[in-house]
Amino acid sequence: MALDLDALRADTPGCAEVVHLNNAGAGLACTPVVDAVVEHLRREARIGAYEAAEEAEDAIEGAYAAVAALIGARPSEIALVENATRAWDMAFYSLAFEPGDRIITSTAEYASNAIALLQVCQRSGAVIDVVRDDDSGQVSLDELEAAIGPRTRLIALTHVPSQGGLVNPAAEVGALAKAAGVPFLLDASQSVGQLRVDVDVIGCDYLAAPGRKYLRGPRGTAFLYARSDAAGRSEPPFLDLRAASWTAPGRYEVRTDARRFESWETSYAARIGFGVAVDYLLALGIDEVEARITELAAGLRARLEARPRTHVHDKGERRCGIVTFTVDGHAARDVAASLRAQRINVSVSGADVARHDFGKRGLDEVVRASVHYYNTDEEIDRLVDALPGA
Ligand SMILES: Cc1ncc(COP(=O)(O)O)c(C=O)c1O
Repeated sequence: MALDLDALRADTPGCAEVVHLNNAGAGLACTPVVDAVVEHLRREARIGAYEAAEEAEDAIEGAYAAVAALIGARPSEIALVENATRAWDMAFYSLAFEPGDRIITSTAEYASNAIALLQVCQRSGAVIDVVRDDDSGQVSLDELEAAIGPRTRLIALTHVPSQGGLVNPAAEVGALAKAAGVPFLLDASQSVGQLRVDVDVIGCDYLAAPGRKYLRGPRGTAFLYARSDAAGRSEPPFLDLRAASWTAPGRYEVRTDARRFESWETSYAARIGFGVAVDYLLALGIDEVEARITELAAGLRARLEARPRTHVHDKGERRCGIVTFTVDGHAARDVAASLRAQRINVSVSGADVARHDFGKRGLDEVVRASVHYYNTDEEIDRLVDALPGA
């Protein structure tokens, strides 16, 4: 079913305020999501927060079912947490590494994940293998396969990097991981909600993604998928009475489902809003959403490439809704500030978050314009026309 753009924009109050091309930062929330969050907060104030949570149990449980339906998982394989970094960390820090163990990653790895990899390797004596890109700029599957050895304990891949439109070949990496019997942790923070992501097709054991980006959920929401078979059954780095039960004075038992990665206290209003956001996407259809975002982004790249002194920096065989570029003679942050003054939201990605990537490409910082399905061709034109030095 084709997307009804007018209805979708009418449902998104932000569309009347700004040209929002910072969806890789946070998507604009739609009215049903905002209403669900606000309504729950009001209910908490009226009848008590614990009582409101009890009353809203179906909506809260519905969030797990919605996420599971979106990625082809079971609700018991989903943990809801506060941000994608925490989701990724809970999986990563649940794995044990010894001196000489090896962890494979790629040049697209997200900065927070890279920091965690360094910390764990410095503590444990494990070693990071950063697999190089192939000629297209995506992770080299040949090099990745060659890097897998008897001491490889984990493959950590970022599906779509924060700093570019690349889509890494996650399913091909998953097939290599499976053949080698190595756990596969996928950071899908920028892909879930804009691309079809299916955990069985990809073959990952863990997958992390936030609610606020392409899923258009509230801030402070995210999920971790943990496969229910052996590979995904690791013990979280820390536990509380949500994750485990204190069964006797000297004993505790960890939950066996993915909720062992959760914590007791959380914002139920945000969680309910998150579920509404995922249901909203499911009703639209992820294939329609993916097609629209991909087409809008391709149109934006074509317009930028046709412009003098403007360079598009997205790599890879397959590209998504994130479009990165520079304009000669204009610092990316100045371009972003000038656009912001014209009510056009973009963001800036710097080398400090892309140490394996930007340095070797001679990039310092780039403008990141990330489109969503509710953006229009007119908005793309407004962005391009507003750039300096035309
Ligand atoms: C690729 C990638 N991974 C992880 C994250 C972290 O998400 P969060 O801010 O929810 O922890 C981001 C956020 O920009 C991201 O782009």
